[in-house]
Amino acid sequence: MADALKIGIAGLGTVGVALVRILQNRANQLAVTCGRPITITAVSARTRDRDRGIDISTYSWFDDPVTMAKDADIDVFVELMGGEGGSAHASVEAALARGLHVVTANKALLARHGVALARLAEEQGALLNFEAAVAGGIPVIKALRESLTGNNISRIYGIMNGTCNYILTRMEKEGLSFEACLAEAQRLGYAEAEPAFDIEGNDTAHKLAILTTLAFGTEIAADEIYLEGITNITIEDINAAADLGYRIKLLGVAQKTETGIEQRVHPTMVPRDSVIAQVDGVTNAVALEADILGELLMVGPGAGGDATASAVLGDIADIAKSQPGAQTVPSLGRPAALLSPYKRAEMRSHEGGYFIRLTVEDRTGVFASIATRMAENRISLESIVQHSKEPVNSAGDKTIILVTHATMEESVRQAVAAIQKEGYLRGEPQVIRIERP
Ligand code: HSE
Repeated sequence: MADALKIGIAGLGTVGVALVRILQNRANQLAVTCGRPITITAVSARTRDRDRGIDISTYSWFDDPVTMAKDADIDVFVELMGGEGGSAHASVEAALARGLHVVTANKALLARHGVALARLAEEQGALLNFEAAVAGGIPVIKALRESLTGNNISRIYGIMNGTCNYILTRMEKEGLSFEACLAEAQRLGYAEAEPAFDIEGNDTAHKLAILTTLAFGTEIAADEIYLEGITNITIEDINAAADLGYRIKLLGVAQKTETGIEQRVHPTMVPRDSVIAQVDGVTNAVALEADILGELLMVGPGAGGDATASAVLGDIADIAKSQPGAQTVPSLGRPAALLSPYKRAEMRSHEGGYFIRLTVEDRTGVFASIATRMAENRISLESIVQHSKEPVNSAGDKTIILVTHATMEESVRQAVAAIQKEGYLRGEPQVIRIERP
């Protein structure tokens, strides 16, 4: 049997501890399937003497992950700390510069520095693997990088944040508040250290930026993503969506259009009978449309220690099986120097259906005025209903719900702005895009 593959793990949080446990418990099985043992030789974390329920006493300890990347006796540097800069960036860069292979679950790091790191890995003949960075345990990176080679992809979209999907599912099924559901997601270890990253859509955006590059061969453009989180979604929206035959999901969507590539993250209404609408709880889903293959939908666990560790383990196993000096698969699907510049399609040109929820003063002419403003902006309505005969507040205000046929975002924005000038609107209008699988 070949020499052991020596790995160093930086970060012993939920995922790091799960990985150590699996590597310890499945050592024999992994040695057989990979053709060589995989041995942890070094670890680094913020605190040494914490009870993590695992034995790390035989590994070299490093207070500083950068020192571990530079000095430890390892072949693979596994980065599970998170964060787009700081120690995560410095240590991954140091490891690659030394010619070590790197496995990371860090979507923020890749969204920001992925192209430069991929270039460095290529220069050094090292592998930079990051399956766990997008959609947890779903092998979407491998699918895009390897299995779909030669396909042209027109759209890739998905539910890529377990915390948001968990919250939306619990709100819908249990009628619980947003805050209660978020607290549960944190307790279960799904949420980021800073949960605003989950609920405001940044985490999905980081993952989408990586998928866009792999799907379309463009440079990573995380700052070009249109972003809306789920913090404004109310039980009223969820119930109204259900009445209309939809469910609300936080989707990340990247799509080729005539003017460029649209990248957007926002709460989205999906038809209740579509497969993606059935994806509940912390489960993730990634769907894509490819010209040779057709449609592909992958569904699986998107967050949590074991699911993420499973993807990290797969990346480590790939390195263990790789032949030294052999041609490697480029990290981003093609050599970093051959990625094309990203050309953004403006959000105002987005075409699709819209759900619009308005709280209005209950007086004659409001319905007619809303319909007129829509018509003036060439928006065709699928339905317009006064959602409840009951007033929504003590002032007697009512809710009106509109669903449009496919239209331009610019037209919707103009129509809503015109309605806001009429004086009968109460509070902010709610606008949710509809996505058809
Ligand atoms: N906080 C993330 C989620 C973890 O909820 O999906 C996986 O990236």
